[in-house]
This record gives sequence, C-alpha cells and structure tokens, in this order.
Amino acid sequence: MGWVIRKREHGNIVFIDLRTVKEPWNPLQIVIKKEKIREETWRNLKKITRESSLLVEGELVENPRAPRGIELYARNIDITHIAETPYPLGKKSHPPEVLMQWRHLAIRSNRYTKIWVIRDHLLRLAREYFMVNNWYEVSPPIIVSTAVEGGATLFEIKYFDNSKAYLSQSAQLYLEVMVFSLGKVWSLTPSFRAEKSRTRRHLAEYWHLEAEAAWYRFKDNLRVQEELISYIIQGLLKNPVTRHIIEEFRGNIEHLEEIKPPFKRISYDEAIDILQQHNVDIRWGDDIGADEEKVLSEEIGQPFFLTHFPSHLKPFYVKLDPKGPETCLAADLLAPEGYGEIIGGSEREDNIDILVDRIRKEGFDPEAYSWYLDLRRYGSVPHSGFGLGVERLIWWILKLDHIRDTIPFPRLARVKKFI
Ligand code: 4AD
Ligand code: MG
Repeated sequence: MGWVIRKREHGNIVFIDLRTVKEPWNPLQIVIKKEKIREETWRNLKKITRESSLLVEGELVENPRAPRGIELYARNIDITHIAETPYPLGKKSHPPEVLMQWRHLAIRSNRYTKIWVIRDHLLRLAREYFMVNNWYEVSPPIIVSTAVEGGATLFEIKYFDNSKAYLSQSAQLYLEVMVFSLGKVWSLTPSFRAEKSRTRRHLAEYWHLEAEAAWYRFKDNLRVQEELISYIIQGLLKNPVTRHIIEEFRGNIEHLEEIKPPFKRISYDEAIDILQQHNVDIRWGDDIGADEEKVLSEEIGQPFFLTHFPSHLKPFYVKLDPKGPETCLAADLLAPEGYGEIIGGSEREDNIDILVDRIRKEGFDPEAYSWYLDLRRYGSVPHSGFGLGVERLIWWILKLDHIRDTIPFPRLARVKKFI
C-alpha cells in the first residue's frame, strides 16, 4: 500500500518508487515487467501519476543495488486513485514560502517524513524514560487563568461571556500542584507564546515536555535533565532506523555519540567572562540572548547547563540563591553547535513572602495566584522542575536550519494564514 513518488518507463519494464504505509521513510522500488502482469494492468500503468495511490501485490526480491536492499516484483497492481496533474509540488526544490503554502502536501516529502519519524521516536523515548524511572504522567489544562512566563507573550482568549483567560505558556504551576498528590510528575502539552520576534527558534505553539518533583533540589533537577537528554539521544542512535536518518541529516553522529551525563555546568558569572573574552559587549546583569548563547554554545562544544542567573532575569517562581538573592537557582540547558537553549528549569521559591513580592514586581496581582500561594501554606516542600522544548531538541539533533521544519503545522507570528 503506498503512493507513487516516481515512475520510470524503460520499454517493457517500469519502475515505481513507492512511499509505503509500512516503512514510509524508505521508498520501495516496484519492478513491473510487461510479461508478468495482465495486459489491462500494463495499459493502466500509463495513467499513473505522481502521488497516485496503489495496492501492489508481488514478490519481494533481494537486490543490493535497490535503495532498500529489496524490491518488489509486481504480479498485480490495483490503482486506488489517480492523482491530478500537475502535482503542486512537482519540481525538485521549493522556497520556504511555497512549502508553507502547500504544507498539507509538503508534509509527505521524504525529508519531512523522516523528520516525523524522528519526532515520533523521540517522544516515545521521553515517555519511556519517565516510565522507567517511576514518574507519573499528568494532564494539565491549556486554558488557564494566570501567566507563568511574563505578560509579554501571553495569548488572551475570550472565555464565555465577559471573562478572559489565556492559552498556557507552561504547565509548570499545575505540575507544582500535582507534586503534592503524586510526588514526581511530568506532562507533554502544547505551550503558547505570542512571540513577535521572527527567529529561527521561536514558534507561537510548541510542544512542551515538563517535569516537577517534590524534595528535588537544584542539583537533582539537573541530573534528571542530563539523564533524560542522554537517554533520548542514545535511544535514537541505538535504533538503526533513527540512527540512519540522523546520520543522513547531520553528516556524522560522532558528536551525538559522546553525549552522556554529567554535562558541564557553567555559571552565569563564568559565561560573562567567556563572552567578554570573545569581545562580546556584555556586562553582569545583562540578559544572555540568542546571539550570546550561540557564542557560548559553539565555544563549549557539548550540551551544558548555564546556572545561577541574576534573579531579575528569571520569573517570580525561581528560588533565590540562599548564598545571596542577586542570583537565583535557575539553569538553562544549552545545546552545542550554536543551537542554544533547549531546556529552562529551576528550584522553586518556597518562601511565601518572597513569592508575593516577586509576583507584584512582575506586575501581576497576587490575588490571582492565591491557589498557587496555598501550595506554600499546606505542606510546602522544596521542589524543582524544568521544561524542554520538543521542537528545539529535534531542531538541534537533526541540525535543521529553521524550527518550523520540526513540526507538521507550525504557527509563526508572520504567517497569518494557516490550515
Ligand atoms: O524557558 P521557558 O520559558 O521555561 C518555562 O516555561 C518553565 N516554566 C518550564 C518549567 O520549568 N516547567 O521554556 C522552556 C523551554 C525553553 O527552554 C525552550 O526549549 C522552549 O521551552 N521554548 C520554545 N520553543 C519553541 N518556541 C518558543 N516560542 C519557545 N519558548 C520556549
Ligand atoms: Mg527560558
């Protein structure tokens, strides 16, 4: 069962490359010999166009020169549908705007099919990691009443008559609620950010893998992150299918093969030093943005944690460093090769007075967070967690140019028409 990628006719023999349901990422060569099939079937072959759908019956034969090492010698071909011509994405390569406009067809290309296979396996491995280590998967809401990551990127929605709500930026606050029931929890949900910046790493809707655990301190949190990332990467390299795809996209996988815990930890202070040595115009207290991350990420050459940011750079929920409130117990995990932040995480503030103060400083009303503050009133515990951007991880693992290629239906600020 499959779709025609290509058809080549050579007299009494016809070759068709088929994208099959069984191994969609790996086209199967169909060999059709005139003398082996019914006359009517042979005549119908003429009508077969690109993306036509077929049921082919025949014999699988080994052929080391065929792309899959095997090919199918057809005995019978049942045409399910003859695709209209011309196929809108007929030519070999297309600019990104065209691929976005025809996204519903572009997603079938061999390149995209391979990316979806990686995406699927990556998510399976992430889930497996949490299962094996006894974390509970929970289902937080998408329609929420409060901001987590600042007001600037909030999508506001009308909620029934007169009240308003938001699309979730992060499940974190709800996961913090759930640790009191289950101890160690994680979730995979869409997160929404009204990011106006046009970058190669921001989506307006992305998939967020988040975890939160009671009694986990700053260091425990980093350990989970480096284990999870290593588990996913090693798992992808162990499976011959995903290994092959990654090799094809990256050129080589040596770099990924070396990834195992522990990852390097670099403090914000050290990062500022490194950046200044690279003649970057930056002072203590300035944010480390995409450009600075790129410098660090290329310099260090492996995934690393950037730790102990100045407190004013991080949201209200991050615990202030007991050694001094100018810095806080937050860490970002940065991917190498210029890719930058793929995870943001921290130990959470458990002092209710500090929390109220910091919520106010961010311009929010503590009243709206009373349910969250209750967590510090009834059985408060130290706890930590993090959020991984699924698309950021795929983007780096496959060394893609733009994050839009990691998700079938990207939502981007500047693309206002979408399916
Ligand atoms: O660093 P962020 O904003 O952290 C949080 O949301 C925390 N509340 C998570 C937590 O502790 N539970 O986002 C986490 C990650 C980033 O490191 C990045 O990988 C990804 O989410 N991310 C985006 N990915 C794609 N497009 C965007 N606009 C993204 N914004 C964040
Ligand atoms: Mg962040």
